[in-house]
Amino acid sequence: MSNFSSYNFSGKKTLVRVDFNVPLDDQYNITDDSRIAATVPTIKKILTDGGSVILMSHLGRPKDGPTEEFSLKHIVKHLSKLLGIEVQFSNDSIGEEALQKAKTLKPGEVLLLENLRFYKEEEKGNEAFAEKLSKLGDVYVNDAFGTAHRAHASTSVIAKHFSPDNKLFGLVMEGEIINADKILHSSEKPFTAIIGGAKVSDKILIIENLLEKATDIIIGGGMAYTFYKAMGGKIGASLCEDDRQDTARELLDKAENKGVCIHLPSDSIIADKFAEDATISSSLSNIIPEGWMGLDIGSMACTMFTKVIHASKTILWNGPMGVFEMEKFQHGTKGIAKAVAEATEEGAFSLVGGGDSVAAVNKFGFADKVSYVSTGGGALLEYFEGKELPGIAALRNKTVNSENMKL
Ligand code: 3PG
Ligand code: MG
Repeated sequence: MSNFSSYNFSGKKTLVRVDFNVPLDDQYNITDDSRIAATVPTIKKILTDGGSVILMSHLGRPKDGPTEEFSLKHIVKHLSKLLGIEVQFSNDSIGEEALQKAKTLKPGEVLLLENLRFYKEEEKGNEAFAEKLSKLGDVYVNDAFGTAHRAHASTSVIAKHFSPDNKLFGLVMEGEIINADKILHSSEKPFTAIIGGAKVSDKILIIENLLEKATDIIIGGGMAYTFYKAMGGKIGASLCEDDRQDTARELLDKAENKGVCIHLPSDSIIADKFAEDATISSSLSNIIPEGWMGLDIGSMACTMFTKVIHASKTILWNGPMGVFEMEKFQHGTKGIAKAVAEATEEGAFSLVGGGDSVAAVNKFGFADKVSYVSTGGGALLEYFEGKELPGIAALRNKTVNSENMKL
């Protein structure tokens, strides 16, 4: 595999797999362009060298061929603005139009192909489809970290059609791997992992892997109540995965054996319903009254978590502390975002990843105050679970795990 920065793209048609799977509103306006903006340096380097760029991506999960809703044409205008040049678009990915447009593409020009998932072959990792895609370019760059956990045609199968010299990671992929590895393999201690979100089941593997690496694990969000219930607490109508109580207990035992400190939110903001106009109160998290549910960490928990974060040299944050989309339940997540930003200012290395926590740092204005904001959701989670991602493995010439064909 070649190195991106030292590669000369002059005169080369470069096929770049990006992750332009971004949220769109009803009018097809992009509501968060971070994933697109992140790829601009990769694209510009190729153009500046005198190469041309053929971009390929998926958008959403179309089930049955092309639909207006999932067309990548909605991205063209914004991408053109970000790059400062008019981006061309092909209404197919491997058909006559794509072939023609790729063929006549000149140095300095950019072509975006239609959603790869309009072809069922993409998710199946179909060999013939991957080969057809590969014919569009001379060089293959994988810059789609967000999709690196998928063993799809364009993310992994395609790589075998390029010689080792002509396949490489783009700058997004390089940055993601360097920053994630810094946390996984060379973290300065104390290392605090802040894990939130609704479900314990989504986070078991990451917590297990982090028990080998972290000194402290803060657990917030809906998943905290499964832990409290597992310890015999009363959690009222709070979210609880009853079938995960044993797992929660096991994780607590393992942490104790390994000397990792688990911090659960001692108190909660509770509500009489899951709604913006709910009546709210506060309670210790292990004695929440019947009919009430914990929707955010409380002020004592926030103070205590802030202290732990301030004492840390390495911080990983994945998952919100409460229902931060609703104003009444945003204080915990906002407080944690602030604490992570302050600790970073004081010299800690911080990485924020996973759709919701990234949305939270953006919403509260802390995105440029943390060390690194990841573009990965599921991919980042799997990376921190210690899994080999097929999109990364393919370029490193390792075998691809067929399990990851599934969405
Ligand atoms: C994501 O947003 O998780 C990636 O773009 C991959 O999409 P997927 O989960 O639909 O495979
Ligand atoms: Mg996903």
